[in-house]
Amino acid sequence: MLILDVVSLMLFLLSILLPGYGCRAADIPEDTTSEFSVRLYHRLQAAGGQDNIVFSPLSVAVALGMVELGARGASLEEIRQAVGFSHLLPGVEFSLLQNLTTALTEDDAHYMIRFANSLYLQEGVTFNPEFLHLMRKYFQADVETVNFSESSAVAEQINHWVENHTERKIRSLLSAEDFSSITRLTLVNAVYFRGSWKNQFRPENTRTFSFSKDDGSEVQTLMMYQQGDFYYGEFSDGSQEAGGVYQVLEMPYEGEDMSMMIVLPRQEVPLASLEPIIKAPLLEEWANNVKRQKVEVYLPRFKVEQKIDLKNTLQDLGIKNIFTNEADLSAMTDGKDLYIGKAVQKAYLEVTEEGAEGAVGSGMIALTRTLVLYPQVMADHPFFFIIRNRRTGSILFMGRVMTPEVIEPNDLYFESI
Ligand SMILES: *[C@@H]1O[C@H](CO)[C@@H](O)[C@H](O)[C@H]1NC(C)=O
Ligand SMILES: *[C@@H]1O[C@H](CO)[C@@H](O)[C@H](O)[C@H]1NC(C)=O
Ligand SMILES: *[C@@H]1O[C@H](CO)[C@@H](O)[C@H](O)[C@H]1NC(C)=O
Repeated sequence: MLILDVVSLMLFLLSILLPGYGCRAADIPEDTTSEFSVRLYHRLQAAGGQDNIVFSPLSVAVALGMVELGARGASLEEIRQAVGFSHLLPGVEFSLLQNLTTALTEDDAHYMIRFANSLYLQEGVTFNPEFLHLMRKYFQADVETVNFSESSAVAEQINHWVENHTERKIRSLLSAEDFSSITRLTLVNAVYFRGSWKNQFRPENTRTFSFSKDDGSEVQTLMMYQQGDFYYGEFSDGSQEAGGVYQVLEMPYEGEDMSMMIVLPRQEVPLASLEPIIKAPLLEEWANNVKRQKVEVYLPRFKVEQKIDLKNTLQDLGIKNIFTNEADLSAMTDGKDLYIGKAVQKAYLEVTEEGAEGAVGSGMIALTRTLVLYPQVMADHPFFFIIRNRRTGSILFMGRVMTPEVIEPNDLYFESI
């Protein structure tokens, strides 16, 4: 059996920001994969216990698009169905993915997003020239040949490439054990994002603060604070208690095309009871109904990182064929018995005031809950987040924070406060 590996790797380093948006122009493509994104989230949530979650739905769609280019028959149809392309004419999804990634990378002045796709082929195996041509055309994929029998050298080469495209945030992604003499092809898909908030948090307003986890325990974290113009709304989860109200806050990055949406249940409600209601149309409802207004925001600094076995997750979503010996990847190569042996995504996200190393103020935040003039979003308990392109609806990152960056009493950081 020949084995094909898909490594979708993404990285995302970000600083932060705030208000004022453009409308979707008529010629901008609209992402159709939000249903898929939400289903992926629910799979990870089911498997994730009390852990943080972070992944890039768009990057998974791009990695699958690269596989789809080489697939035929049931292998192709399962991907189109699951990702949400079945209403498009055959092949239109490649142009759509290309346009969505282009729309994200256009605004170089305000933030940095790099999609870096690379294809590693076994020396001596002949791939279909049309497949290679389309890989370059739609995904600007680098194509390299390697000898997978020399597994340590290959792992080193790919890891080096990944590091180079993720500002050194993701190291040692793969190891020699990930390859063998039967590996034929590895796809690597890295995403790097770095934005800064339109309205940054002032580091001197950051304080240590208690964060209440859903298991009832408390940890100390660095809580950022600002009062500013954001997009904000209150929604109901349909439950009776206190009207079931939860908050949605949308904070734009510089340039205002990209934003982070924070979805926060009431303090006494665990995130797990809000998660089941998250559906694709609800994401749209949030986006369409938040209103610009002055809000007081308390947001912990956080760093979330996750390596996801996409093989198991995608099989749960109905993409099974490409992982079995029934796979039809005959548009890639005439060789029989080619299937995908490995599919991994690694995502990394860091949220700070802006540039991380800023000085931290002393003391605790004095709460003035009785004197609240504006809505207050106090993210001192678990929340859900999305980083999306407001013009196309593309979801670059989705996840949840169950535990923020924890400050231990013996941390140097803490002592310096
Ligand atoms: C992608 O953009 C090109 C050039 O603007 C356009 O011709 C094509 O129809 C677009 N494809 C999709 C699926 O929107
Ligand atoms: C790949 O490496 C193995 C072990 O070093 C060697 O036997 C084989 O000939 C190499 N294959 C190619 C195509 O160079
Ligand atoms: C690292 O990336 C830069 C720019 O993206 C590129 O010019 C350089 O050749 C890369 N180096 C390696 C070893 O891949």
